[in-house]
Amino acid sequence: MSPAIFSFPTTTLFGAGALTELPKRLDALRIQRPLVVTDPGLLSAHAFEVLQQTLGKKEQGRNWFLYFGVHPNPLQQDVVEAAGAFRTNDCDGVIALGGGSPLDVGKAARLLVRRPGFDLAKFYDEPDWSGLAPFVAIPTTAGTGSEVGRSSVITLDSTRRKAVIFHPQLLAKLVFLDPELTLGLPPRLTAATGADALTHCIESYTCPVFHPMCDGIALEGIRLIVDALPRACRDGHDLDARGKMLVAAAMGAVAFQKDLGVVHSMAHPLSTLCGMHHGLANALCLVAGMRFCAEGKPGLYRRVGLAAGLEVMKCSDAEADQRTIEFIARFLAGLGLNTKLRDQGVKPEHLDALVAQAFEDPCHKTNAVPVTVADFRKLYQEVL
Ligand SMILES: NC(=O)c1ccc[n+]([C@@H]2O[C@H](COP(=O)([O-])OP(=O)(O)OC[C@H]3O[C@@H](n4cnc5c(N)ncnc54)[C@H](O)[C@@H]3O)[C@@H](O)[C@H]2O)c1
Ligand SMILES: [Fe+2]
Repeated sequence: MSPAIFSFPTTTLFGAGALTELPKRLDALRIQRPLVVTDPGLLSAHAFEVLQQTLGKKEQGRNWFLYFGVHPNPLQQDVVEAAGAFRTNDCDGVIALGGGSPLDVGKAARLLVRRPGFDLAKFYDEPDWSGLAPFVAIPTTAGTGSEVGRSSVITLDSTRRKAVIFHPQLLAKLVFLDPELTLGLPPRLTAATGADALTHCIESYTCPVFHPMCDGIALEGIRLIVDALPRACRDGHDLDARGKMLVAAAMGAVAFQKDLGVVHSMAHPLSTLCGMHHGLANALCLVAGMRFCAEGKPGLYRRVGLAAGLEVMKCSDAEADQRTIEFIARFLAGLGLNTKLRDQGVKPEHLDALVAQAFEDPCHKTNAVPVTVADFRKLYQEVL
């Protein structure tokens, strides 16, 4: 029997005001001309103001440089442009500031710095990705956990689908989890990004790959989210809740080294075909996905329920699942995440393409129970 292999990531600085350490840390990493990668929305956010002050406003264009063209659900073109900005300005490291979108672009841009003109669609044919420029990740949403991940999710030109570019060399050298940078995130985005983190924890815990460390991390992530996400949505300035959500989001991403499941396979096409925010797409599919998995594997969600604080230890398998799933449904509804896909512009005409893309998506290959094309159709119909 071949051994199960697991490993563990990244130096992380956590706490309100942690970003003040950035200049010192850049020196230690020998980064003297960083490229800051972000998106247009961030330019007017408090988080960008703090980063500008930390790096020196007057130094922009001299000692640090800016690329802010990242799209939500980032495109190949964003990666090409960011790598171009890096080379034009003779940069020596990347600082990505933002949600998962800028983080994924900043992470992947180093590939094209190393191999200009390379076609990202051929990523997996390339054996050697050593020597990438150092990468510093500063999340301003608490959801994707991309800051501690080895993957970058980019929509490729050739397929118009989200490709997961995965390589250990993509890991950040340093992560700042500074809750002050997420204070300005509006409640809807706080809720949707937090639901992404929750989905990561639930799907990775229930995915059958052997990784007991990830299982423990996923369950603690669920406990943190159940406590902190409603508070962060109610009061965006609750630093404690914001901090716990940042930590939980990073934990969710560490946990999904194991892999994910059917909900993420449903969510990815909702972003590529219908432009939906990734976290919202997960939130709207999560309960249906959990019901489907529980039917095939009774008792699957008992420990998820325990982590959420429910007294389901002595229930039957079916009751433990039911109570846990009902709790998650109420939890999401309390955050305003209980709409239908059609309320977000998804139409019955989209169904065939959604089903086809979801089935091709790799996440469901590690789902708790196998998923067929017919299952995807039924699941989408349920949430439509
Ligand atoms: N690499 C991974 O492991 C991984 C995992 C999950 C998701 N993803 C990807 O991450 C992307 C989604 O990331 P996301 O959910 O963080 O959203 P996002 O990065 O697309 O950001 C959404 C919006 O929030 C705004 N925003 C971000 N921080 C803000 C702040 N502090 N204040 C005000 N506005 C702010 C942005 O300007 C943007 O308009 C998707 O493309 C998804 O596929 C990647
Ligand atoms: Fe996700």
